[in-house]
Amino acid sequence: MKGVFGAALIVVCGLSPGQVVAAGNAENGKAHYTICLACHGANGEGNPAIHSPTIGGQETWYVERQLQNFKSGVRGTHPKDMYGAQMRPMSMTLTSDQIVADVAAYVNTLRPAPPKPSISGDAAAAEASYALCAPCHGARGEGNIAFNAPRLIGQHDWYVVQQLVNFRDGLRGTKLEDTFGMQMRPMAMTLMNDEAVRNMAAFIASLK
Ligand code: HEC
Ligand code: HEC
Repeated sequence: MKGVFGAALIVVCGLSPGQVVAAGNAENGKAHYTICLACHGANGEGNPAIHSPTIGGQETWYVERQLQNFKSGVRGTHPKDMYGAQMRPMSMTLTSDQIVADVAAYVNTLRPAPPKPSISGDAAAAEASYALCAPCHGARGEGNIAFNAPRLIGQHDWYVVQQLVNFRDGLRGTKLEDTFGMQMRPMAMTLMNDEAVRNMAAFIASLK
């Protein structure tokens, strides 16, 4: 209720949402999620058939940042990034910073079922290399806001592969404005080949 009041106050005071962005209000975000349903599903579980990832339960700050990245073209504009290009126009339906914050808050409340493994990789072979990832993403892949690193658990293994390849090959994390993607890119480049990428995704999928 407090959030609804806050939003009403901003309107009454005549401040545009671009000037004052209150913390996201999940209740208000729900209505704007309708357009996301078709691809990400009612619980934010994603859909392998159309390459859309799990977003349900992801940290609000990360979802908010990615939506802004898609909107501004920091993500989803590389000529080879065909899946990012599908997401970008969707982000543009969220017409204010407040709406982005609200949808991100709503996405955080969703609780998808764990995804089914879809790739073959040797999780044990990647366990030692995950030591490099753990300081930022957490020992259990739970994410860490202090390092701006998102939650990895609960994500589809094929999407983890796709993003590691995107970072490695420069489809993501190369724009000057992409401060956080640029921190991740050299990490993806430590995975020597596609097999190492698959092994890492299998190891992440094994984290609870
Ligand atoms: C037409 C299908 C489609 C619709 C509709 C759609 N998305 Fe997406 N979304 C995708 C795809 C595909 C990706 C993966 C992009 C990539 O591979 O980089 C994605 C990625 C994302 C990501 C990044 C996840 C991550 O882990 O980095 C977020 C956040 C997201 N979508 C939120 C939303 C929200 C919120 C909406 C509704 C406003 C929405 N999407 C609507 C297809 C869609
Ligand atoms: C220095 C901190 C840091 C380290 C170490 C690190 N990452 Fe990241 N990682 C990040 C940040 C920050 C992002 C978010 C980038 C963005 O905002 O687009 C990220 C994003 C990702 C994503 C994309 C998630 C999504 O939902 O799209 C994956 C997958 C990932 N990292 C895996 C790894 C793996 C595997 C390793 C170890 C080889 C690793 N990271 C090491 C900071 C780090």
